[in-house]
Amino acid sequence: MERLGGSQPQSPILADNLRLRPMGGKGFQRRLILVAFMGLCAGPAVVSVPSSSVNGHGSPGTNARSGYVGDGACVSCHREESVSYLNTAHHFTSQLPSSTSVRGSFQPEHDRLTIIDAQANPAEPGLSFRMSAHDDGYFETAITGFAGSTQERTERIDLVTGSGKRGQTYLYWQGDRLFELPVSYWTDGQRWINSPGYEDGTADFSRPIHPGCLECHATYIQPLSSDPATNRFARETLVTGIGCETCHGPGAEHLRLHTEASFAKAAPLQMANEAILNPAKFSRDRQVDLCALCHNGIDRESLAPAFSYRPGKTVSEYFRPLAVGLAEHPDVHGNQVGLLKRSRCYLGSAGMSCSTCHNVHAEEHLAASYSKACLNCHRWQSCGASRTLGKKIEENCIDCHMPVQPTAAIVSETAGKEVHATMRTHWIKVYPGTSPAGPAATHGAIPAGGK
Ligand code: HEC
Ligand code: HEC
Ligand code: HEC
Ligand code: HEC
Ligand code: HEC
Ligand code: HEC
Ligand code: HEC
Repeated sequence: MERLGGSQPQSPILADNLRLRPMGGKGFQRRLILVAFMGLCAGPAVVSVPSSSVNGHGSPGTNARSGYVGDGACVSCHREESVSYLNTAHHFTSQLPSSTSVRGSFQPEHDRLTIIDAQANPAEPGLSFRMSAHDDGYFETAITGFAGSTQERTERIDLVTGSGKRGQTYLYWQGDRLFELPVSYWTDGQRWINSPGYEDGTADFSRPIHPGCLECHATYIQPLSSDPATNRFARETLVTGIGCETCHGPGAEHLRLHTEASFAKAAPLQMANEAILNPAKFSRDRQVDLCALCHNGIDRESLAPAFSYRPGKTVSEYFRPLAVGLAEHPDVHGNQVGLLKRSRCYLGSAGMSCSTCHNVHAEEHLAASYSKACLNCHRWQSCGASRTLGKKIEENCIDCHMPVQPTAAIVSETAGKEVHATMRTHWIKVYPGTSPAGPAATHGAIPAGGK
């Protein structure tokens, strides 16, 4: 069962939760309760993990699945899709750490997240985090205890998730086990925050990363067990970013036939094309299912091993929705598929899919520019607002009919302050408060997960 950051039973070896505040309460607890102290290293020592030959973008790992060739193999013949794809959030959604991929700041003053300031309250145990960049990598250090006698634990940022459009969460390896780091980066305000769903006042290095997380954020990694709750992986098989073959299926045969065809004109073009999947040729439902592999929210459980879904298949055979509210840490994750499917536009037109508006091979453009897609099916005159605003409503149907809404979900509570995420709703309809006569758009909060 895959859930983002579900609280997992802690393994005895990794019970390394430092709790400074009681569960649920924002109040400060005077006594430092060490739930467990194991794994905490004193001093700035760095837990070094043997570096493995993790692959860069699009290059298949050594034990990668057979038939997959990586993005690099498509460029020579599909330059247009390939070059623009390099700028997309899909491509950047997981990366190895580098000075450009890690968006948070390591500059003095900006390299800290202070939850409880030990200097300011010498009577209280403090908790802060320091993020640092060294020649051998990028690190997060938790510093806890009373001023003058602090303990530290440092882990390396081994993998970056999130393009940084909203934010980034960092992961670290301990042998073949993958864990989440306690501090994330939030693009709004360009600051460090508690990782989504982490309890304020704790230094938690123990949250395991399950295959479902990387199934949505990477092209591939081989889990070492079929248990969806495992966090053991064959590290060298990691292929970062979402690659062409996630949506088009394995490309080796397509490549071979096209190469042969151009040399010997042996294989007919049709055969070569049939060897690769083109979602445009799927039924509408299967097209939307491909996007639903990752865009139907995180309140779901897996029915099949991670990375077994193939484009063109029915997604409901691979995942089952969880009852609303079961996801323990709703956060940045929306449900565009579920919301679009409620829209009368979708229900009333057999051909509408995500591709009606999005070209996933190129960078997203300004929200208002998608109004052109509305005008393929609607005349501006049929909008009631046109009576008062006239033809200029053509410039932006989006903000009135697909407004950005605050979610009810708290992404993070950091040093007692709440951080919220906003989402662009995909339920196209009339929203109260967007009437041109009424006040500027105000919208009620939508529940967590965009439902
Ligand atoms: C040796 C050249 C070559 C390489 C390499 C290549 N393709 Fe193609 N591909 C073609 C040609 C030629 C077509 C046919 C274009 C047409 O029908 O107009 C095609 C068609 C396609 C189609 C449309 C198929 C259809 O049924 O309409 C997709 C999707 C595609 N390629 C994806 C890929 C991906 C993904 C890769 C990398 C894994 C890749 N191709 C690598 C030459 C290549
Ligand atoms: C394998 C998982 C996966 C699949 C399949 C997938 N997406 Fe995504 N998509 C993501 C993730 C993860 C992000 C967030 C990327 C980020 O900012 O880190 C994303 C972001 C996006 C965005 C926002 C891009 C931006 O610049 O902000 C759009 C639009 C989008 N996806 C559309 C689609 C459509 C349409 C499909 C189906 C054709 C699709 N996606 C299929 C995982 C996926
Ligand atoms: C069901 C697929 C899915 C799962 C599981 C999932 N994500 Fe996401 N994630 C997405 C999509 C899609 C987005 C883009 C926001 C949206 O469309 O809702 C996203 C957005 C993000 C972002 C913000 C990216 C940005 O810059 O905007 C981060 C960080 C992130 N996810 C981290 C994680 C981590 C860490 C896990 C696992 C512990 C995880 N996600 C699990 C699909 C998923
Ligand atoms: C997130 C999913 C996704 C990813 C990743 C993706 N594609 Fe596509 N691709 C699609 C969809 C959906 C279509 C069909 C678009 C439509 O409906 O017109 C498509 C269509 C195509 C076509 C056929 C274009 C045509 O005019 O018929 C080619 C070629 C192609 N993709 C190549 C690539 C290459 C090369 C990459 C990697 C650089 C890539 N795609 C990555 C989803 C994806
Ligand atoms: C593929 C065609 C198509 C596209 C694209 C499309 N719509 Fe629609 N839309 C429809 C249909 C069909 C209906 C239902 C009409 C009916 O039932 O009378 C509808 C209904 C609506 C409604 C009424 C919804 C309600 O719940 O009462 C609004 C508002 C609307 N569309 C706005 C938009 C906007 C804004 C866009 C662009 C963001 C858009 N539509 C894109 C086809 C489309
Ligand atoms: C009627 C047009 C339309 C359709 C259809 C549509 N989208 Fe969007 N989508 C938009 C607009 C407009 C935005 C806002 C773009 C921006 O802010 O730059 C958007 C943004 C997104 C984002 C980024 C969300 C965020 O809050 O940052 C994702 C992810 C996304 N779409 C996925 C999908 C998926 C998956 C589908 C199919 C289920 C889909 N979209 C269908 C118009 C559409
Ligand atoms: C300033 C906000 C605003 C803008 C801009 C706007 N709309 Fe509307 N739209 C509304 C409101 C409010 C209604 C309901 C009006 C009423 O009931 O008289 C509406 C009604 C509609 C309806 C009819 C829904 C129904 O079934 O009664 C459609 C279709 C529609 N809009 C499409 C569009 C399209 C397409 C655009 C862009 C060209 C657009 N709107 C721009 C606010 C807006």
